[in-house]
Amino acid sequence: MAKVETPWGGRFQEAPDALMEHFNASIGFDRRLLEVDIAGSKAYAKALHRADLLDAAELAEIEGGLEAVLQEFSAPDCPLPDALEDIHMAVEKRLTELIGPVGGKLHTGRSRNDQVNLDERLYLRVSIEALQGRIRQLQGVLLASAEQHEAVVLPGYTHMQQAQPVLFAHYALSLFWMLERDCGRLADTWRRADYMPLGSGALAGSTFAIDRTFLARELGFSQVTPNSIDAVSDRDFLLETLASLSIIMMHLSRFCEDLIVWSSAEFGFVELSDHFSTGSSMMPQKKNPDSLELVRGKTGRVYGSLVALLTTMKAVPLTYSKDMQEDKEPLFDALETVDICLEVFAGAWQSMQVRGEQMEKKVDSMALATDLADYLVHQGMPFRDAHRVIGNLVAGALANKRALTDLSLAELQAHSEQFGEDALALLDVRCSLSLRNIEGGTGPQAVAEQLQKARRILASP
Ligand code: ARG
Repeated sequence: MAKVETPWGGRFQEAPDALMEHFNASIGFDRRLLEVDIAGSKAYAKALHRADLLDAAELAEIEGGLEAVLQEFSAPDCPLPDALEDIHMAVEKRLTELIGPVGGKLHTGRSRNDQVNLDERLYLRVSIEALQGRIRQLQGVLLASAEQHEAVVLPGYTHMQQAQPVLFAHYALSLFWMLERDCGRLADTWRRADYMPLGSGALAGSTFAIDRTFLARELGFSQVTPNSIDAVSDRDFLLETLASLSIIMMHLSRFCEDLIVWSSAEFGFVELSDHFSTGSSMMPQKKNPDSLELVRGKTGRVYGSLVALLTTMKAVPLTYSKDMQEDKEPLFDALETVDICLEVFAGAWQSMQVRGEQMEKKVDSMALATDLADYLVHQGMPFRDAHRVIGNLVAGALANKRALTDLSLAELQAHSEQFGEDALALLDVRCSLSLRNIEGGTGPQAVAEQLQKARRILASP
């Protein structure tokens, strides 16, 4: 008889120190894997049956027992003390309490090393699908916003300096395409995670004739892992996910930054709704864009998760070491953080007021300078020369406090004889936009086509 009451207690004389028990336990956070752990075990029991390691009655008992454990442990107030160590041990222990020694057959040929790896893949599949749904939802908000404000003109910036006018819809859709890549990155990650690891055992495979292809099919994987050492060592799919999540947050944070600046009195381009703002405890007049600031701030937290796991995995000797138990908290935290950030950001965007008039009013006439240079190029002047001519023209206008749009033909011609009457028509924001109907450009025609593309993406399943 084992003197120590743990499933691995046989070779031990003494129980772990209470401190060690607490330190070692992952049940506090890996209980989230309950559902996938049970799903994995149900499939594994079927594979054991196919390998004649369980008879039909035993299989039925185990399946029923696993279902009972699932129901019991799913209750949020179900106590799962540290002594249970982790979700895998907890399920097996309870199963055996419920159905007796036959429960002890379930772990035949299996190790927690391949089990936890399977659970994480299964958990990831569900999480990725949920996140893609959230991304689609935000893309829908952006598309609707672009449609609603299709004609609104916005000063476009580079280096945070006014550069060229763009359509607000074009700006909103820029995030749509970033999110489209984010969705694709998550799908790619899944492609590389889509390998069934059971049968790898602790590291060397199993002596039992487990039909791995059957298991892959049962659990919805397209193939099986080709190397048991690699399989139980692999956390690449979590790292890739965290990298993808970090990129999503990087994207959101940049738009947060713009919108926060734009919501200031100095810009006044947008006004966040009361629903997604908060006030100051001291200054009664304040309305702060906390929703966006928090999304921006939580970006650091998600990057932290990526760096934490990369650092944990660095130099972990093959195959499994307990270091790898540290993979779960950063993963869960990052998944949860990105999920709520996508939702909050969508809410803040959807409910904000877009002040189109104010945006257009703030377009600096100097933002049309490139169009004048391009005009001279059309007259045959090399672009470098045209750039210099218009540079001089801008310098003169600035010195005389003149807007580019107020210049007369004679004033233009003082810089180049090549300016004709038609050049004056260029000194208009909408004209500037309409010159950029190149595919992917900010011209109204091009943006209308872009809207079409975006609609088609959201309409496809
Ligand atoms: N709780 C462990 C983890 O999350 C499960 C795997 C334990 N494997 C082992 N050989 N001790 O990593």
